[in-house]
Amino acid sequence: MAPLVVHVTGARPNFPKAAPVLAALGEQPVEQLLVHTGQHYDDKMSDVFFRQLGIPKPDVNLGVGSGSHGRQTAKVMEALEELFEDRRPDMVIVYGDVNSTVAAALVASKMGIAIAHVEAGLRSFDMTMPEEINRLVTDRLSDLLLTTSVDAVAHLGNEGVAPEKIHFVGNPMIDTLLKNKERFDPAAVRSEVGIEGDYLVATLHRPGNVDDPDDVRELVAAMHAVADQAQVVIPLHPRGRARLEEAGFLGHDGMRVIDPLGYIEFMGLISGSAGVVTDSGGVQEETTILGVPCLTLRPNTERPVTITHGTNRLVRRDTLADEVRSVLAAGRAAQWPTPPLWDGHAGERIAQVVMATLREHAQA
Ligand code: UD1
Ligand code: UDP
Repeated sequence: MAPLVVHVTGARPNFPKAAPVLAALGEQPVEQLLVHTGQHYDDKMSDVFFRQLGIPKPDVNLGVGSGSHGRQTAKVMEALEELFEDRRPDMVIVYGDVNSTVAAALVASKMGIAIAHVEAGLRSFDMTMPEEINRLVTDRLSDLLLTTSVDAVAHLGNEGVAPEKIHFVGNPMIDTLLKNKERFDPAAVRSEVGIEGDYLVATLHRPGNVDDPDDVRELVAAMHAVADQAQVVIPLHPRGRARLEEAGFLGHDGMRVIDPLGYIEFMGLISGSAGVVTDSGGVQEETTILGVPCLTLRPNTERPVTITHGTNRLVRRDTLADEVRSVLAAGRAAQWPTPPLWDGHAGERIAQVVMATLREHAQA
């Protein structure tokens, strides 16, 4: 009987990471079960990725929805425990650093099920970020640590993870980007959004920017100073939207706030932009490959390779307007370095490691 691998996904950033892994394992003698926890549920936060990226419809949707960290994580755990009891998977694959990721790792580890963590070892060293807690716990519990960058390998080594568990496989998010690049159409998105000429794109959703009213006030002022220089298109994540609007975010002619975009449209928008302001993890990586200047509005990044080998720069709210000025003056670079193994083949490498591990387990 073929071994059973369960993929646990749930939030927007999981889907472009899981797509190439599902496809590559689809070529292997393994049974796959795709779980969607329901952490994200709006069409533009979830279903659109399945349609556009050809991800199979989830076999199971746990429908957990939104809630506090404890409640959301607990609901995923409760439902997954029942599912794993029923299906007894040989391996669970988890992605990134969201609550669904850590919930699945906690359940699988207590049931003695092997865990593969895709995007292991990233560290911001900032324990005020919920994602950093999720990364640390998930990595500690995982049997296979599949990393996107050399710094991640080093972090895991420093934390005492046995070297044979760590596999530097590259970045599956970039597999998805490279596979779909021909479909990115900046002109089509520009006309859909209704903008002409040069523009910047912004995405903002981290608690560190949009949860505290003082931060929000500063953010609104900083973004208005950006919009004084160029029009800004902002596909706004639902988190913090109300707070930003209350603080007058929309009160500037240069700000075009729209709903989240589908993956293909979003990447089209980014591809044609003069630069990006963001607090997203994935967007730091995507701009690095597209060669679009990226200003990350955070005090740290768990993705330093996008600075050393990419187009990313960390900025503060009080320096943002000046940084945007220099991005607009410099224009896009003709050449830039890209991180090792961000080459479109991470999914295949992950499938190889997973299959080798399943074979070892079967022999043991
Ligand atoms: C989550 C991840 C974060 C990731 C982000 C990507 C955790 C701890 N955080 O944050 O790492 O960067 O997803 O997008 O897992 N909401 C909707 N519709 C949806 C989903 C959410 O309106 O489809 C609203 C709800 O009001 C919800 C809020 O957004 O309470 C936050 O959603 P949640 O999944 O808890 O966290 P994110 O901020 O999306
Ligand atoms: N994305 C999208 N539409 C949007 C914003 C983002 O398709 O309007 C995609 C993009 O590929 C990005 C991914 O969703 O890398 C995850 O982004 P998000 O900022 O939600 O999560 P993070 O990477 O910060 O955890």
